[in-house]
Amino acid sequence: MTVFERALARDQRIEPRDTMPDAYRATMIRQIAQHAHSEIIGMQPEGEWITRAPSLRRKAILLAKVQDEAGHGLYLYSAAETLGADRGDLTRRLIEGRQKYSSIFNYPTLTFADVGVIGWLVDGAAICNQVPLCRSSYGPYARAMIRICKEESFHQRQGYELLTTMMGGTAQQRAMVQDAVDRWWWPSLMMFGPPDGASPNTAQSMAWKIKRHTNDELRQRFVDMTVPQASALGVTLPDPELRWNEARGQHDFGAPDWDELKRVISGDGPLNHQRLARRRQADADGAWVREAAAAHAARSSSGGTT
Ligand code: 3HC
Repeated sequence: MTVFERALARDQRIEPRDTMPDAYRATMIRQIAQHAHSEIIGMQPEGEWITRAPSLRRKAILLAKVQDEAGHGLYLYSAAETLGADRGDLTRRLIEGRQKYSSIFNYPTLTFADVGVIGWLVDGAAICNQVPLCRSSYGPYARAMIRICKEESFHQRQGYELLTTMMGGTAQQRAMVQDAVDRWWWPSLMMFGPPDGASPNTAQSMAWKIKRHTNDELRQRFVDMTVPQASALGVTLPDPELRWNEARGQHDFGAPDWDELKRVISGDGPLNHQRLARRRQADADGAWVREAAAAHAARSSSGGTT
């Protein structure tokens, strides 16, 4: 048994200076980078509503949430750097379409109810997926995830609170919430990834204790957690096959449209082009800041003054 295998068997964390197989390092960089990209692209759908939030309170909450997502992206890029990845290179891979980000952020936010439903369902799905990652085998990733999950919990609650308020409002507001639930339910289930039989990475990532549960296990957990919340809120989940299965002690539910997931992942979702174009523009707009910071750092290290 290698030192790496012994550490995994004892459930110890793998740390940056530990010896690790090249494939483990590559898988960690892949997952952490995709996760970081998702947080950064994920600022866009809700960010579009900051200037149109219906009150100062809602604007302040939304601003804080979107800033949190930026922070999550930064912790995650830092975690990827501990594995030898270069942040600028990861960003280039994203904007050139060579690395993925979560499918969920390629759907449009049509009304303010979408802000609430993203908080409730999308952040709810993120929590289901990410709480087990706090026990992921790579130390810097697991530790970043603890703080991220705490903030995601706040995000989920703000979404649910917004929806509770809207459901107590006018018939038109209730209809907006139901419409948003209808549009976001299936994409939220797709966030967990392809079904286990079609997931190429799960078996190895479970063996390395990067993932602690399969995609289908976490999807099931999310459905079981969400159904009672939907009923307390007074909305219907758009799945005619959704019902409690007494024998399994879990809900049965219909299959998402896996072809749609494949299309969105491969760049052909409703807003993939717009999301990446916006990210490319932000990267170009920030070039002078990076150049100035690099020049300042070079000058400081050569003993110059500002
Ligand atoms: N969107 C985009 N790509 C997806 C995807 C999705 N919903 N689901 C799977 N994929 C990709 C995988 O990344 C993998 O791509 P690659 O092999 O070419 O790199 C491929 O499809 C096959 O899927 P697998 O199930 O085999 O891949 P994984 O074992 O990596 O599992 C995962 C996918 C469950 C998303 C896992 O990577 C994971 O848990 N990642 C960490 C969490 C994460 O990235 N969440 C994204 C949402 S961000 C977020 O929640 C922000 C919050 O503010 C809302």
